[in-house]
Amino acid sequence: MQENKVIWITGASSGIGKALSIKFANEGWHVAASARRENLLKELNQQNKNIHPFPLDVTDIEQCKTIFKNIIEKFKDIEICVFGTGIHDPQSEKEFNLEKIRKIMEVNYFGTMNSINSVYNYYKDKKSGQISIVSSVAGYRGLPAAGAYCASKSALTSFAESLHFEMKRKNVRISLISPGFIKTPMTDQNDFPMPMIKSPEFAAEQIYTGLTKRKTFEIHFPKVFTYFLKFLSILPSSIYFKIVEKGMKKINY
Ligand SMILES: NC(=O)c1ccc[n+]([C@@H]2O[C@H](COP(=O)([O-])OP(=O)(O)OC[C@H]3O[C@@H](n4cnc5c(N)ncnc54)[C@H](OP(=O)(O)O)[C@@H]3O)[C@@H](O)[C@H]2O)c1
Repeated sequence: MQENKVIWITGASSGIGKALSIKFANEGWHVAASARRENLLKELNQQNKNIHPFPLDVTDIEQCKTIFKNIIEKFKDIEICVFGTGIHDPQSEKEFNLEKIRKIMEVNYFGTMNSINSVYNYYKDKKSGQISIVSSVAGYRGLPAAGAYCASKSALTSFAESLHFEMKRKNVRISLISPGFIKTPMTDQNDFPMPMIKSPEFAAEQIYTGLTKRKTFEIHFPKVFTYFLKFLSILPSSIYFKIVEKGMKKINY
């Protein structure tokens, strides 16, 4: 069991972030858990005293800085940051909706940038540790009725790759988390059958292993699904479109 190490997880109030917070806490880590719904973070703290609520709206740059400062004051050191805040709005994605596109970018992309901004100098000086960005297989290529979400995730994936080059020189590991379908309040909004969907606990196990026991840049799962999507991502557009359209017909989408 790992003693005394500290991880900051954003998006910790539900779904993957919640399961990951519980996993790390059960492994003996102190978890600084952030999301907007403080009541849910407090419930987590009641279940496991290793989970410490730090309520935060990641769209607020100054709040991100203040919360990070508070976490450092309390724990003195942070080993890993997992920036997992994200939203998806599948119904609004069926037609072009600028307001919703902006909102999704604001939370998924700029919310993550605000979070990175708050820890950037800390890690640069510390010259160790890890920043992990939660993207998605939806970042590999454009999927139907998910334009804003896919764009926000491919932006995160590219950003993480770029940041890797810079931070490697400072001995800071950048990792990218690309889950397939995981059953959470986010995917509960989807109105189509989701292939190979897994539980948040499965995701948490995969992420825990990827963050603490392996050194690969990308942590992706479930592998059969993610490798299939990786294969699709290298195909010419004409073939890619045909395969996806065939899949959509199969599920009457
Ligand atoms: N589920 C999947 O199949 C899947 C697949 C690939 C990638 N992902 C990614 O995994 C991450 C977690 O998704 P999930 O499925 O676990 O969804 P979820 O259960 O809806 O969790 C989303 C989390 O983000 C937090 N959040 C949303 N807006 C926020 C804001 N402005 N400031 C701070 N926190 C905010 C939510 O907490 P509050 O509402 O309390 O703020 C919640 O804790 C997301 O980045 C998602 O894109 C999910």
